[in-house]
Amino acid sequence: MSNTPKRYTITAALPYTNGPIHIGHLAGVYVPADIYARYLRMQGNDVAFVCGSDEHGVPITIKAKKEGVTPQDIVDKYDGVIRQSFKDFGVSFNNYSRTSAKVHHDTASAFFKKMYDDGKFIEETTQQLYDEKAGQFLADRFVTGTCPKCGNEEAYGDQCESCGTSLNATDLINPKSAITGEVPTLKETRHWFLPLDQYQEWLDEWIVKGHAHDWKSNVHGQVKSWLNDGLRARAVTRDLDWGIPVPVEGGDGKVLYVWFDAPIGYISSTKEWAEREGKDWEPYWKDENTKLVHFIGKDNIVFHCIIFPVMLKAHGDYILPENVPANEFLNLEGKKLSTSKNWAVWLHEYLEDFPNQQDVLRYVLTANAPEAKDNDFTWKDFQARNNNELVAVFGNFINRVVVLTNKYYSGILPEPNKYTKVDEQTIAELKAYPAVIASSIEKYRFREAQGELMNLARLGNKYLADEEPWKIIKTDEERVKTVMYVALQIASALATLSEPFLPFTSAKLQKMLNFTDTENKLSGGEYSQWDKIATRDSLLPAGHQINKAELLFSKIEDTQIQEQLDKLEATKTANAAKEKEVEPQKKTATFEDFTKMDLRVGTIIEAHKMPKTKKLMVIKVDTGLNQRTVVSGIAEHYKAEEIIGKKVTVLANLAPRKLRGVESEGMILMTENAAGKLVFVNPDEDGVEPGTTIN
Ligand code: 2FM
Ligand code: ZN
Repeated sequence: MSNTPKRYTITAALPYTNGPIHIGHLAGVYVPADIYARYLRMQGNDVAFVCGSDEHGVPITIKAKKEGVTPQDIVDKYDGVIRQSFKDFGVSFNNYSRTSAKVHHDTASAFFKKMYDDGKFIEETTQQLYDEKAGQFLADRFVTGTCPKCGNEEAYGDQCESCGTSLNATDLINPKSAITGEVPTLKETRHWFLPLDQYQEWLDEWIVKGHAHDWKSNVHGQVKSWLNDGLRARAVTRDLDWGIPVPVEGGDGKVLYVWFDAPIGYISSTKEWAEREGKDWEPYWKDENTKLVHFIGKDNIVFHCIIFPVMLKAHGDYILPENVPANEFLNLEGKKLSTSKNWAVWLHEYLEDFPNQQDVLRYVLTANAPEAKDNDFTWKDFQARNNNELVAVFGNFINRVVVLTNKYYSGILPEPNKYTKVDEQTIAELKAYPAVIASSIEKYRFREAQGELMNLARLGNKYLADEEPWKIIKTDEERVKTVMYVALQIASALATLSEPFLPFTSAKLQKMLNFTDTENKLSGGEYSQWDKIATRDSLLPAGHQINKAELLFSKIEDTQIQEQLDKLEATKTANAAKEKEVEPQKKTATFEDFTKMDLRVGTIIEAHKMPKTKKLMVIKVDTGLNQRTVVSGIAEHYKAEEIIGKKVTVLANLAPRKLRGVESEGMILMTENAAGKLVFVNPDEDGVEPGTTIN
């Protein structure tokens, strides 16, 4: 712990404004960032904790298209919902802005313009994916396909979320338009590229060598692996109409890539805040003594550790992040959280079912935070942690202390007598906690820090259970005064040290303990309240009046948990029903259309699984016309040896296309049975239902 105040700029990933936020967002980014920001403020540091709505980008356009409204309608709606959730859960941003704000458009435009004027971009005409049917270029989330690095078949045009690699849309194998489902063609277009390769050596020095020990290993490891693969230039402009217009000649009809503008949102949010507060924003982004820390989820590592730092470096005026403590992902009941599959605990719904229990969720999410690996949220664990830890340990200790002080001394702290060995030992242990908790927080180990906070509550609980003031009050009133005095010091430390983790509980507890005088306020200064726990003999003096006891936590019943589990079961059933829905009939095909298709019977004569893919099989088919190669997505359903010799239906005159470097000359017709297994077309086969499509 240090008492010299520093300046910190803390950022939390700007959430996409295409839906509400769920427990995964809170656990991965916002609760850890909030713990860190609150802790630093309590230490008297100068903190700008900024965030805002990420309102550009393809997910928003896709949602607007689906709902038949404008992207602006979508962001206006969800900006409000998300803001409210952050407020409800006590996320203490100094400022929450929006990337549609004028200050952001101006800041992002000026940032791009300066880089352009300084010759930091490469301007190039290249062939990009184009959806003829939609009449639109396909980039980012408008296109999905197989990741060339890890074989994930649902990679996006700018990134594979499975291995984290950042991609150009043209890297995707077997690309498919997310708008129409069509296979895209290639069309020429002009764009500005950020030559990441030119910064490779610098990144290697700065991160791989320079931050090998202070950055989390999951973050450092990813960056190292991308640098090993070699960086390539990335386009930072797009042919879209939703976003920040490209502010240079030739930029008409083009916008900045969302991942170019979004991180600049941290800067514009800081500007908005500074203007409101009458401060200068520049030191928060330009002074070398400022510590810049980005809180993000693992899918954002490439953007915060490679692309944004390169932008900041190329621009030239800005500081670089001191750390990027990215978290892994949180699962829900063993399954990946998914907005589209409604597999989530939405924050606004949680509060309807557990009103005023924000801290319980914050506590459980921190206790289970996916800091080093993916982790699981289960409702049973949520209940157990509430009932066995918050209620039985923290709440029970505070309740005993406050109730007994009111009962024995009308709420006035008694004068203690001489400490026994146990008292001295307990006070010594108490004094060690602020430094222990601080050290974990400063290393971004929030679960460990919160675990120590609970150990302090355990210390208090054990002290009372061992000293039994409720028993000895009958025989030794003087001893009880000392015991209650010591217990009240622990309660007081808990009121302070819990503030970053459990802000609502801490506020309630401070009220109960009557933290009204400036001495006890949670303020910075020469010695922060945090540090006083270790340096002062007493936190609450004898004679101090406390208030009546209020319940801090309440038991969560089995029925409440069952309701949540039932909700998830209902989601599963609804998803299964959706998957079973018969696809609607396609547009009418004329007889002539049909005769264009050359369907033949063929025999499979060779087959092998394509290396490094999950689904693809390379098959040689004798069509009677010739022997040819067809690449088919059946490897998860058949072994190569099972299909050799099989007679199949082949669409022989399908235009050849390359799949992972192998030319596929035709298509083997398949269908799906009720169990979801792909089978060769034979409508008579068991489990092939009427309405199933043949592809
Ligand atoms: O992954 C996301 O949700 C992005 N909207 C995060 C953006 S962070 C930033 F750089 F603004
Ligand atoms: Zn991948």
